[in-house]
Amino acid sequence: MTRVALVTGGVSGIGAAICHRLKSGGYTVIANYFGNDDTAKAFSEETGIPVRAWNVADFAACQSETAAIEAEFGPIDLLVNNAGITRDSTLHKMTEEQWKSVIEVDLGGCFNMCRAVIEGMRERRFGRIVNISSVNGQSGQFGQTNYSAAKAGVIGFTKALALEGASRNITVNAVAPGYTETAMVEAVPQKVLDTIVAGVPVGRLATPDEIARGVMFLLEDDAGFITGATLPINGGKYLA
Ligand code: CAA
Repeated sequence: MTRVALVTGGVSGIGAAICHRLKSGGYTVIANYFGNDDTAKAFSEETGIPVRAWNVADFAACQSETAAIEAEFGPIDLLVNNAGITRDSTLHKMTEEQWKSVIEVDLGGCFNMCRAVIEGMRERRFGRIVNISSVNGQSGQFGQTNYSAAKAGVIGFTKALALEGASRNITVNAVAPGYTETAMVEAVPQKVLDTIVAGVPVGRLATPDEIARGVMFLLEDDAGFITGATLPINGGKYLA
């Protein structure tokens, strides 16, 4: 039986590229999404990958939807926590809603989803979890106290869960992408983005597939000795 992989935020951008790689690798892939029904429908029709809609910030929904996926497709052995949002603002203008929504989706979603699959992985003594952090969680970024805090939190979370999973053959790693050709980055004002790209030694944005390549490396069965790591894929923008 092929292993089952769940990718949150999996119907576009980096998540979609991860789904493509997993499918080509022979895994059974399910993509979670929230909100963008048309994109999800088109993605599913094009790839044949089933899609399921729920908000990863909703603990109960993560529990019930994960259980439903496992009943239909089998136990989830691979989880990629990719779903994330930005609500950029300097702190002196940031609302409580901008702060909370980013923490709840980007960091809370990681807890909610890992909590939903971890007991099964422990029982089966196998698991591969990759959490998508960000270069901005490592370096900090002007206008992103919320996002930088959440993405730095993802790295700490990853290290702690890696220690808990190690004896059960559950690896937990983070990937920290740099600026990538996605809708999230397209939303950055062009003038600001030009300055950012000028500071990337490789001199361009990443493609989503360049990030997916690193994620896939950490998800494979024979990656069992890599755990608690953070893999930067940022074109040299920040050398941790
Ligand atoms: N460093 C230092 N100063 C900066 C700066 C920076 N990076 N960016 C802007 N400033 C300065 C500006 O020059 C300006 O200075 P003056 O007042 O002296 O003119 C001042 O800060 C205000 O800047 P803005 O006019 O841009 O302020 P704003 O309130 O209109 O917008 C902002 C603030 C929304 C944060 C906007 O700057 C912005 O969108 N920045 C981009 C943030 C970013 O990189 N987001 C990444 C999203 S993609 C992502 O997160 C994916 C990933 O993982 C990499």
